[in-house]
Amino acid sequence: MSTLKDVQTVCLTRGIIFPTAEIYSGVSGFFDYGPIGTILKQKLIKSWREEFVKSHSNIFEIDGSTVLPEKVLEASGHLESFVDPIAQCKKCKSIHRADHLIEDKTGKFVEGKTPKELTKIIEKEKIKCPSCKGGLMDVRVFNLMLKTDISPTGGQTGYLRPETAQNIFTAFNRVYRTTRSKLPMGIAQVGHSFRNEISPRNFIVRLREFSQMEIEMFIDPREKSCERFDEVKDIQINLVTQEAQQKKGKMIKITVGEAFEKGILPDPWIGYFLAKEFEFYKSLGIPEDALRFRHMLPEETPHYSEGNFDLEIKFDFGWKETVGNAYRTDHDLKSHMKHANVKLDVQTEKGKVLPHVVEPSFGIERTVAGILLHNYVEDKERGWDWFKFPAKIAPYLAGVFPLVRKDGLPEKAQDVIEDLKKEGFDVFYDESGSIGKRYARADEIGTPFAITIDYDTLKDDTVTIRNRDSTKQIRIHIKDLRVFLEAALRGLE
Ligand code: GLY
Repeated sequence: MSTLKDVQTVCLTRGIIFPTAEIYSGVSGFFDYGPIGTILKQKLIKSWREEFVKSHSNIFEIDGSTVLPEKVLEASGHLESFVDPIAQCKKCKSIHRADHLIEDKTGKFVEGKTPKELTKIIEKEKIKCPSCKGGLMDVRVFNLMLKTDISPTGGQTGYLRPETAQNIFTAFNRVYRTTRSKLPMGIAQVGHSFRNEISPRNFIVRLREFSQMEIEMFIDPREKSCERFDEVKDIQINLVTQEAQQKKGKMIKITVGEAFEKGILPDPWIGYFLAKEFEFYKSLGIPEDALRFRHMLPEETPHYSEGNFDLEIKFDFGWKETVGNAYRTDHDLKSHMKHANVKLDVQTEKGKVLPHVVEPSFGIERTVAGILLHNYVEDKERGWDWFKFPAKIAPYLAGVFPLVRKDGLPEKAQDVIEDLKKEGFDVFYDESGSIGKRYARADEIGTPFAITIDYDTLKDDTVTIRNRDSTKQIRIHIKDLRVFLEAALRGLE
């Protein structure tokens, strides 16, 4: 298996993703998307939006501010509890994540332990500063939010939002009323979030600025039903149960219907999202055996939650949470109701109720990292490395190449590309270098098809289409290109 480090190098050399402010040596935890990376990300979001938002008449999308006033984050608990344990070196003063130091040294999972308990483990295991081997101070906590002053006089404190979810909770009442909704109703949001991570690492897996795609599904807790559960109940997922983690058991394959019947899932809406996510991530080219849901252990689960399930992707350095699914009960609305002194309960046929919330929260950069790693092909035989992105997320669906740069072939190729662009396809033109070099460049950015205009094209309006994965070519009429490419986008070619 390739490593994410290899992929990071490829991303740099192909300008897909590179450090922010690279000419100033970058800044840890921040990355910029280049032209290819930007389209890949946009297509991922488009595909998610189609699957998780647009195909539901009761899920609405908002686009909220990234700066939130302190009051919101006081109500949400972030001001007090959005902290990481840190251990500072007595000698070189460098700061490290205490839990990571322990996990790296002992392989033991210590989430949920208090600073005192972590300090004890560090002493017992004789863990030293990884930079200079100096001794470490007692563990303390550090708030991960990035603070800012709102207004020139600094009268009000704001924070860059640590999650997109809080805009959704604060907007709930207005969206519910103005869309004239009934429960269940979902609010989705795609956007940037910020966490001042102690040790950003693993390329775009742990960042200080990242983007999320989140949905808060507001449901009636008395119902325990999901109108679309039947569509997904037979979908089989990979699941690591709490019991398996406690007793060194194995991952199981189970349908979401069975998982709900067995009481593993607290609500059918959780099952609905888990099934959709499993299918969605497979459709991004991530193999089934590199995907699993982990039922979070009680000590990792917030007290108000009735169950958290992380979709994890397998990377060369381990499994990483990529989508967090949480049954958050009425915790958030209750807290905002109290702090803002507003009513957030809603009228239903069965009387007033404060909705419960099911939250699937997707990390975009971790998803992009998973896509890049699992679609990367090191191909000695072909002589170049390439990405096998599925057509729906490939930055370009096709390259259009005139065989030679003369005799009217470039002009014909330009006509073809203009028509395809008008039809809405993402295609690019390339006339430089040998045709083999152009195939290589197209493969390197994961382009599923290469359309070549040759002398026969001038005679009979046919072109060759080279398939990136098989390298096989077929000849088709220009007027059939649209149908061919549309089928490819639907996964049929
Ligand atoms: N809203 C959950 C998260 O951002 O992780």
